[in-house]
Parts: sequence; structure tokens; C-alpha cells
Amino acid sequence: MATLEEQLNGALRDAVRERFGTQAVADQELFVQPATSEKFGDLQCNVAMPLARRLGRAPREVAAGLLEGIRWPKCVERVEIAGPGFINIFLSEKWLAGYCARLLQDERCLVPEVGAGRVVVMDYSSPNVAKPMHIGHIRSTVIGSALDRMYRYLGYRVIADNHIGDWGTQFGILILGYRHFVDQEALRRSPVEELERVYAASYAKARTDREWMEQARRELVKLQRADPENLALWSRFVQLSLQEFERIYRRLGVRFDLVRGESYYRDRLSGIVAMLKERGLARESEGAQVVFLEEEGLPPCIVQKRDGGFNYATTDLATIESRIQEFSPQKILYVTDERQQLHFRQIFAIARRVGWNTELVHVWFGLMRLPEGTFSTREGNVIRLELLLDEAERRALEIVRQTSPSMPEDQQEEVARAVGIGAVKYADLSQNPQSTVVFTWDKALSLEGNSAPYLQYTCARIQSVLDKYRETIGPLPSAESLELTHPQERRVAVRLVRFADVVLRSASRYRPNLLADYLSDLAKEYNTFYQNVPFLKSEPGVRESRINLCRATAAVLRRGLTLLGIETPRRI
Ligand code: ARG
Repeated sequence: MATLEEQLNGALRDAVRERFGTQAVADQELFVQPATSEKFGDLQCNVAMPLARRLGRAPREVAAGLLEGIRWPKCVERVEIAGPGFINIFLSEKWLAGYCARLLQDERCLVPEVGAGRVVVMDYSSPNVAKPMHIGHIRSTVIGSALDRMYRYLGYRVIADNHIGDWGTQFGILILGYRHFVDQEALRRSPVEELERVYAASYAKARTDREWMEQARRELVKLQRADPENLALWSRFVQLSLQEFERIYRRLGVRFDLVRGESYYRDRLSGIVAMLKERGLARESEGAQVVFLEEEGLPPCIVQKRDGGFNYATTDLATIESRIQEFSPQKILYVTDERQQLHFRQIFAIARRVGWNTELVHVWFGLMRLPEGTFSTREGNVIRLELLLDEAERRALEIVRQTSPSMPEDQQEEVARAVGIGAVKYADLSQNPQSTVVFTWDKALSLEGNSAPYLQYTCARIQSVLDKYRETIGPLPSAESLELTHPQERRVAVRLVRFADVVLRSASRYRPNLLADYLSDLAKEYNTFYQNVPFLKSEPGVRESRINLCRATAAVLRRGLTLLGIETPRRI
């Protein structure tokens, strides 16, 4: 079934075609948007402006012409032309109420399964072996996992692949360093930290000591030739790192379908270069094999180094080829920080030249600044995520002790876990991914503002209204009884009917913050409703209707938070 926006866009599109021809405007020019203020209706459409410009006529006149005889779906009560030619759309109250009642009875909150039969590979998190996750990996994990949940919910077959950095020249240096410098006790205590230290020491030595460098190279060659001893060391490094990453994923509630490191593709690398050469895409330049990308306005991309070694770019090309062969995805999504934009532009350009026609998307995000102190190392980049999460849970526990003093202690702790982790995730997800974010505890854990605890609290409040209804009045009413009798109810309803469109848009633009913004706006309107309109004390009939509106709101808030990977405890 078409969503609200699809229905309205469809009616407008047909009208434009009939009156002004198929080419008159681009699709995105006629799309309806939520009205900026209630005065302007529930939704508005600004198509008359670009259309009038193109036709050399007055926008109001064009708008009037467009609306003449337009076949609106039955959700539309009336429309008006305002100002210079805005089309303001008012939804029918009866339809709004009916939609909310249907939403309440639908498992999926009326979100269509638009992705059925389609496959998306999602490449996110992807930290590197023997190095701690840096803030970029954390953001990639949180944002990637939210997109993963949304796409799955929309019916796509999602293959979440953690593309671990587990292959490359650094392993020669690491193996050599390990043989000379490792402190087994430290390795037991904090494996990744120790491996990182060993690597750094060995790397530093290699920079001044040619003999050491030469030895490291030999260790690498041995590893590449599958020397059993080096292979065993390498695989131990990978295991130790994965165990540590896994602990973080468990806390964050993140699961992958595949954890295929770069090493998985190592046997394909020479084939990729051979193929690029054969097709005339790669050629020799100063001893290296290079793909020149002048046409795309990009710098050349090296796919095989002068010493014969392959690199990050070669691996990513091999990965695309393998994913296409195995999964035939419509789309492959990569979630990384902004520093990899050029890399992916080059890879995507080469993929297009090869003729791989899977849609390739790089979802990049900016930096996030974290609170000073224990969470960031000197470089300010590597964060001790586990400490950040511990702190979040500790602070959340203080809040829960205030909001639910009578709750048993173990339950308080369980709730604090959901609230603390939720707060950290939401602080990340609620921002435009591409802007710089400053994380503050006050904002993340606020019970009032745009935060996870606020949304979780709203859900818990609704739950307690429903509990109260059951206690004092009886079983919850039949879902059909839903009428809107108060303007504030209408405001809530107008938001509920947008849910499907918001999920679709949030997914298709790769912006979880659109969903987060929507949820916080819905919660705000709901709370105004809750504070100003009597529920349980209103007259029978109205009361049931209001209870059902609450239930529909709770269903949408819960579903929305689940899509963002945030839990909603029954009580807070
Ligand atoms: N391991 C890389 C890094 O830490 C990220 C990998 C992203 N995915 C990919 N297919 N290149 O920078």
C-alpha cells in the first residue's frame, strides 16, 4: 500500500502531467513536505514556484490550474493556495483517526516492505587487528547498525559484513616485534593494547634500522607464503582482537552476518590487477600498476605497488567482485569516517569502468568530540569506549534511582544499562552524520531534550498510563475505537501518520537522524497531550479513544527506537 506521501505525490504528479506535460518538473520539485507550521496545513507542496518560472506565468495562477480537477486521495480534506503560490494540504480528521487505528492493529506500524527481494551488503565497523577501535569505528558501528536495522525492517535482505583490517605489510612488523618485545602478562591483561605497543616499538625500530626493516619484510613474505609459524601468530592476533571487538559489539547489541577480513580476499588480488590490465584500465607507471581517473577528475589510483605488493584499493576491488559473485546485491553500502571519501570515489569509479553495476554508496560522517579525560588518548582519536560505556551506565543508574526509587536494585541496574547505552548511541545517531558533534553528558542523558532517556521515559510513561487503565477500568479497549476530539490529539495523529515516510526517507538518505528528530518531535507532542488533556478522567468513549492514541504512539516510539538500536525498558 502506498504511504501518505506517495499518495499525495502521485496525485500531484498526475495533475502536473495532465496539465503541463510529463517534462514540466522534476519529481523532487513536486514532493510534499510536512508543513512548517500548523497554519499552513499538515503538508505543503511548493511545486508551483519552479513550474511557474519555467512557464513564465504567475505561481498562484499555476497552482490554481494545477489543483483544478486534481484527484486527491481520500486522506485530503481540503487544500488552499497561500502566499506566492504554496499549496497547503489539510488532512481529513476521520482519515487520520482511521489510520492511527489501523496502525495500532498492524505489527509493522504500516511501514511497507519496499525492499522485499532486494539485497544490500553493508560494510560497517571494520576496525583493524592489533589496534584499538577509534572513534570513527565506533560511529561506523552505531550508524551502520541503525541503517542495517532499518533496511532489514523494510524487507531488504541485508548482509552485514565486518570488513576487518587483518592483512597487509603491518603484519611483518608486528610479527617481528612480537618475537622480541611482547610481554605475555600484559598480553593476557589487555591484548589489543599490548599488540599495539609491540607494533609501535617495532615500527619505530624499523624506521632507523635497515636490518630490522629487512627482517620484517621477510616475516611478511613468510606469512604471505603461508609459513605455519607466522600464520599461527597472525591468526592469534586476529583472534585476540576479535574477542575484544566482540565484547564491545555485545554491549552495543550489534551483530554481523559475516566477519570477513581483508585477508579473505588475498587470493583474488593478482587476478584483479590482471583483469584491470587486460581491459586496459591499469597501466604501468614508474614500476607500479595504476588506474588513471582523469575523466572522473580524480587522482590516479595505484592497484599494485612497485615492489609487487597490493594495497587497500586492490582489496576493496576484489571485495566488490566477490560480493557481487556471491550475493548479487543491488547495493553495497560502506560506512566510514570522512577521511576515506577519496578512496571510495576512486574505487567506485574503477568499478563503474569495469562494468559492475551494483549501486555503491559511501556513507561518511564527520568527527565527534568526546568529553575530555579518560576516554580519549593523547591523539584524541582513540577512545576507551568501554570506559565511556561504563560511565554512561553509572550516570544512568543515578537517574534511575531518582525516577524509580522503589525499583529493586538489580532491575535498576538493568534499566540503567539500557538507558546509558541508549544515551550514548542516540547522541551519535541524532546528529546529522556529516557535521561535527560534541558529546556532552548533560545533553546525552537529559530527561527533557532530544535524548534517548527522554524518549525511553516517554515510552515508560505511556506504559504506566496503560497499566493504570487496566487496574482501574479494565482490559484495554478494542483498537478500532479511535476518534480525535481535541486539537492536541490531532497534532499527535498527524505525526503518527508520517512514520512510514520518515523510516523510508531516513533509510534512503542514510540518515538515522531524520528518524531520531521525528521521534523526539512525536514524543514532545505526546507529552503536551499527556500534560494538558485528561485521559483516565475523561468520559467513557473519549477515554478509550485517547488510550488507543497513546498505544499507537507507544508502538511508533518503540519501533522507531528499536530501529535505532535503542532498548525501551517498561519502566525507568
Ligand atoms: N579498516 C578500515 C579502517 O579502519 C575501514 C574499512 C572500511 N571498509 C572497506 N571496505 N574499505 O580505516
